[in-house]
Amino acid sequence: MPVRIRWIALGAIGIPAIVIIVTVVLMSGNDAPSVITLPPPSTADGEFVPLTPFQARVLGFDVLDEVNLPQDNPFSEAKVALGRLLFFDPRLSANSAVSCASCHQPGQGWTDGLPLSFGYAGSVHWRNTPTIINSAFHPKLDWDGKALRLDIQAQGAMKGAVAMNMDPVMVEERLRQIPEYVKRFDDVFGPGGPWFDDASRAIAIFQSTILSSNVPFDRFMEGDESALSESEKRGFKLFTTTAGCSACHRGRLFTDEDFHGLGVPTPEQFSTNAIRQITFNYQLRSRGVSEEVYRTATDDPGLYLVTKVDTDFGQFRTPMLRELGQTAPYMHNGAFATLEEVIEFYNSGGGESPNLDPLLRPLGLTDQNKSDLVAFLMSLTGDPIIVEEPQLPPYKVIK
Ligand code: HEC
Ligand code: HEC
Repeated sequence: MPVRIRWIALGAIGIPAIVIIVTVVLMSGNDAPSVITLPPPSTADGEFVPLTPFQARVLGFDVLDEVNLPQDNPFSEAKVALGRLLFFDPRLSANSAVSCASCHQPGQGWTDGLPLSFGYAGSVHWRNTPTIINSAFHPKLDWDGKALRLDIQAQGAMKGAVAMNMDPVMVEERLRQIPEYVKRFDDVFGPGGPWFDDASRAIAIFQSTILSSNVPFDRFMEGDESALSESEKRGFKLFTTTAGCSACHRGRLFTDEDFHGLGVPTPEQFSTNAIRQITFNYQLRSRGVSEEVYRTATDDPGLYLVTKVDTDFGQFRTPMLRELGQTAPYMHNGAFATLEEVIEFYNSGGGESPNLDPLLRPLGLTDQNKSDLVAFLMSLTGDPIIVEEPQLPPYKVIK
């Protein structure tokens, strides 16, 4: 074969092959990006080479996508407005004293700022309140992933004995004595209501509008490389290399949406408060664990409550790492007050658990590494998303 033709033939095979390889690598960065390891943070001569936005995208990191709403609950402005009223309305709880916003407070990054939530009057909650910012993106909700949709999660929050303790029929009857709600449910969902399920749908759509905005990391990803400081860039590289964080915290939300056991220590207030012990025992029994587990468990079983598989005991959903600057304290039980404490925990190789994740190991981070990692985590925090508490419509007798 003449040399020129050989080159053309090589090109004909080679170029499509390269295109396929690059496409596969890029596609694997979408929903469930695979773990790709990069060289350590510095080159041989000691000069630091930061990740570029392109490399970050290949690794599966990116700005947020469009929210994908379930087909049976389409978006409308009127539904958002209704959902906003309901989110702030304490009449959705049995004693008319707690609303979703009591625990998910806009001024606290849509959390309650407590290590463990306060819970319904006369009880205390047993878990840390996660933020609802960006929650519309999660395929699983709650620390054990028990809810698969925002509207179903909201129903659980309303009915839950340690959240709002409410009877769905009572919700409907209350809303039916509030003319403004009757009218709004009519407009959004058609006549005959208000219905409990529709209330949870409207709340879900409202929550799907509470999204991160003006995040330094996103500005970096959009091409403004000065949006991250040198320290934040070093932290990002550590995160994806030496520190091994991106093995679990990856994708647009910095979570694999999977479950892992880290052995996070149990805070004292989990086991020294009799009222919380009641909540704990109640959770175990109402979620159907065996008599033996009910009698012997001393800590939150996490995913085990959903699956009842022994190796899932103590595993929790990997949380997203966006908005950490607004959502302290951290972990399912609020064990850590600061990100510095979180980094120390990982640096020492995690805690104790029969199902400790094999990905955890002592990291040997320097003080500089630790502060770079904290700086990077903080660069994932955007502006506070403040929604004013609405004026709630009054009751009026309707027969
Ligand atoms: C008493 C405090 C409290 C109230 C009231 C409350 N929540 Fe929560 N919320 C929590 C706690 C604690 C969790 C974690 C529950 C778990 O993991 O079992 C949670 C979890 C969530 C999540 C899951 C977030 C994620 O990323 O997993 C969403 C969404 C949510 N709540 C929305 C609501 C809505 C909507 C309402 C009102 C209908 C509500 N919450 C009422 C404390 C509360
Ligand atoms: C083996 C998987 C895994 C690895 C590796 C990992 N994480 Fe996590 N991360 C999790 C899980 C699971 C949780 C929740 C654990 C819990 O509450 O018990 C978590 C929680 C967190 C939280 C608390 C978030 C919140 O909202 O409460 C932060 C911050 C965090 N991780 C940062 C990091 C950093 C930084 C690294 C690297 C040094 C890292 N993680 C490595 C799985 C992992």
